[in-house]
Amino acid sequence: MAVPEKAAGRVASVMQEDRVFPPSAEFSKGARIGSLADYKKIYDEAASDIEGFWHSRAQDLPWMKPYSKVLDWQPPVAKWFVDGHTNASAACLDQHIAAGKGDKIAMVWVGEPTGERREFTYRQLHAEVCRFAAGLEKLGVKPGEVVSIYMPMTPELVIAMLACARIGAVHSVIFGGFSSEAIADRNQDAKAVAVITSDGGWRRGAQLPLKKNVDDALKSKAHPATTVKHVIVLKRTGQAVDMVPGRDLWWHDVVAGMPADHPPAAMDSEAPLFILYTSGSTGKPKGIKHTTAGYILWAKTTSEWVFDLREEDLFWCTADCGWITGHSYVTYGPLAAGASILIYEGAPNAPHEGRFWEIIEQEKPTIFYTAPTAIRSFMKWGMQHIEGRDLSSLRLLGTVGEGINPEAWVWYHEVIGGKRCPIVDTWWQTETGGIMMSPLPGCTPTKPGSCTLPLPGVCPEIVDAAGDAVEQGEGGWLVMTKPWPGMLRGIWGDDERFQETYWSRVPGKYLAGDNARQDKDGYYWIMGRIDDVLNVAGHRLSTIEIESALVSHPDVAEAAAVGRPHDVKGEAVAVFVTLKSGEPNDALKDALRKHVRQQIGALAVPDDIHFSATLPKTRSGKIMRRLLRDIAAGRETVGDTTTIEDYTVLAKLRDDE
Ligand code: PRX
Repeated sequence: MAVPEKAAGRVASVMQEDRVFPPSAEFSKGARIGSLADYKKIYDEAASDIEGFWHSRAQDLPWMKPYSKVLDWQPPVAKWFVDGHTNASAACLDQHIAAGKGDKIAMVWVGEPTGERREFTYRQLHAEVCRFAAGLEKLGVKPGEVVSIYMPMTPELVIAMLACARIGAVHSVIFGGFSSEAIADRNQDAKAVAVITSDGGWRRGAQLPLKKNVDDALKSKAHPATTVKHVIVLKRTGQAVDMVPGRDLWWHDVVAGMPADHPPAAMDSEAPLFILYTSGSTGKPKGIKHTTAGYILWAKTTSEWVFDLREEDLFWCTADCGWITGHSYVTYGPLAAGASILIYEGAPNAPHEGRFWEIIEQEKPTIFYTAPTAIRSFMKWGMQHIEGRDLSSLRLLGTVGEGINPEAWVWYHEVIGGKRCPIVDTWWQTETGGIMMSPLPGCTPTKPGSCTLPLPGVCPEIVDAAGDAVEQGEGGWLVMTKPWPGMLRGIWGDDERFQETYWSRVPGKYLAGDNARQDKDGYYWIMGRIDDVLNVAGHRLSTIEIESALVSHPDVAEAAAVGRPHDVKGEAVAVFVTLKSGEPNDALKDALRKHVRQQIGALAVPDDIHFSATLPKTRSGKIMRRLLRDIAAGRETVGDTTTIEDYTVLAKLRDDE
């Protein structure tokens, strides 16, 4: 199989196979996995005796009833720790208190816009979680019911997640940047019984209308969510909101008088812990389902391996809890590992572009985990924001969400890491629950742009379209040949789509949806998606979702969305639109952008809008996306207003898609 088309451009620019940075001696000394020989030993152990390996690791979880079997694998259905009972919030809180760590700092929060600061010990966080859990239970929220959470990055967001986990309710966190229609869609799909939100949130000094978005969602005609009985509202900004009697309650009233200790529910190992909606290659986001015991074990174990967490670490993962990174490496992983987390409510460039470095100077985190997009922005904003800042508390840096270009990697290493901090480039997905491939800071030599090697328990393979393993060095589809504890257990309410999306094209193997290649040292290089999923600023977007949003505008006849390279965001959204009414002018472009913002959210707003008399199609009527990608990237040129003739000339050369 040839190197996939989308990846071809990156191979030359990204792969620097021979540029190797040795592991850090400082890390090797005390690290859990301190040499490549140790890594190999543990890796082989996990691969050869999957059940024995995970059985020994699972002993650290707080079991309320022991499991009878480690794994029941009937592809694609995996049941881990069969019949066992545990609780994810107990794993994150109670067991540390029981171990005498109640007074250790669990969470430090820095707010926007005034730099407000709050700290919680494990005992205090436990008390807050218990109060809110008891409040939810008093409202009648039952185990297995879904609770949507649409909040800013406040401590209460983490508390709400853990409180749901405590009573066995399934949380569905919706990123605060999504629109009311997107909330409505998710509430309806999940049959949410309650929504937890706040009056508003702060973003670059302005107030976001979060409660209003929830109100609008609950009025949606397209997605009526008749199941929502309660809306719980945290007072955050103090802005005026409408409270609907009988439905809406203030957070402070829900917790008033509730006990500081509320027992965790004994949840089946396979009881759903959360759903997280993510984009796929259809117009409808899918609710990725994660369950209790396997997920929490994966989040904890990968946190310990990849970040090598130590007692004194303060871990700053800059992701929002609206994404999987915020689930696994803000909340569940580091807390289950008993570390201290730092969270920040605001944007990296408000009130100034040195805000993150100021926070590092003040709070002294030891580990910093962010997205390549953010790193490229920091580079662009310039050294004046970094020079003179004391970043010496940092000992490890990480990246996630998209490939990192070697220039950004080297900059991160030299400027932020002072050449002393190892970098872990972590490859994983919403579906995988936690990190799958990454260097281990105590032992893996790194190569800028490669996520290096799989973690123990992860068995990747690169295959061709027939499902056969490719020769080393060739590109192909990345699959997983064995189950792992953190794997998704399904798509909420859609078993068929689960089977079809992940398990059918290469039967019995998990299809990640990425192209990859292994180099001569066995290192993995991720080379982009195989489907119509875009990665814009580390956020996953479906081209079809954007197209559906556009065609729901009355002036639009047809639309095609593609990605084009962008030096900061990685990919930008370019759309080609044919009209049935209206004038192809800037006013209509603005209207279309506004429309996409309303339908999905600001993150999906197209960067470029091309009006076109027609869209190029193959003889069988498929839009020629490859051609559009080339045009969007400026690799092919057409006239200002694209006409049928322009496309015909280009299309006839390559009617091959
Ligand atoms: O294409 C890969 C890319 O992000 C996709 C997963 O997106 P999402 O589910 O939103 O999860 C993001 C956070 C884990 C993958 O299929 N991706 C993620 N990490 C990397 C990456 N691409 C290259 N290198 C990475 N380190």
